[in-house]
Amino acid sequence: MKIIRARDYRDMSRKAANIVSAQIIMKPNAVLGLATGGTMEGIYDQLVEWYGKGDLDFSEVTTVNLDEYRDLAGDHPQSYMTYMRVHLFDRVNMDPARIHIPDGADPDEAKVCREYEESIRRLGGIDLQLLGIGTDGHIGFNEPGGAFEMETHSVELTDSTIDANARFFACRDDVPRRAYTMGIKSIMQAHKVLLAASGKNKAEILRRAFLGPVTPEVPASILQMHPDMTLVGDEEALSLLE
Ligand code: PGA
Repeated sequence: MKIIRARDYRDMSRKAANIVSAQIIMKPNAVLGLATGGTMEGIYDQLVEWYGKGDLDFSEVTTVNLDEYRDLAGDHPQSYMTYMRVHLFDRVNMDPARIHIPDGADPDEAKVCREYEESIRRLGGIDLQLLGIGTDGHIGFNEPGGAFEMETHSVELTDSTIDANARFFACRDDVPRRAYTMGIKSIMQAHKVLLAASGKNKAEILRRAFLGPVTPEVPASILQMHPDMTLVGDEEALSLLE
């Protein structure tokens, strides 16, 4: 595992975006696994800036997002589809036909999950998977205690995830209770993984995930076993990972 140390959020965003842009330049038709959340915003801003300068072309890039809230249609203001459009897709030359996000509004869980996995397989897998990390160690919506061998599935969100995400909604009661998420197995099959983290509230979970035992109680700990894993963090986030 490679650890890249950044000074602050801005520097972390630039260093992570550098890895994503190198992937696109090396392979213009790359399959990118994308994530949402506050951490990712600076990375997407940086990619948009480089696109604006003519240094990046997204026209042949395919994207596969990690997760989506259940019961929110793609055009709901808090859906992850909307997040991706606001922060990246509508600001670059992405081909809408190459965007993949589970359809949260489709209640047929078995079908949504099966078709999502099939589409990842048809694409030949994910070249580079971007990840954030929850303070409980979740990646995507894979919460503590879930099985490592899961592919895309439907999950019930934990209280701590609902609390953390409530800041994006008018009130806590508006946060959906369920989500579709790629499983740990789907994530581990990505050729490369890039986990980005910022701030001192991530320091303890990064220590547990990368210095502690590999256990489903800390879902991100499985990334210790990934053959091509890079962690980019700022000083505060990496402060307990000496
Ligand atoms: P954050 O979310 O980037 O908003 O901290 C990370 C996550 O929960 O995966």
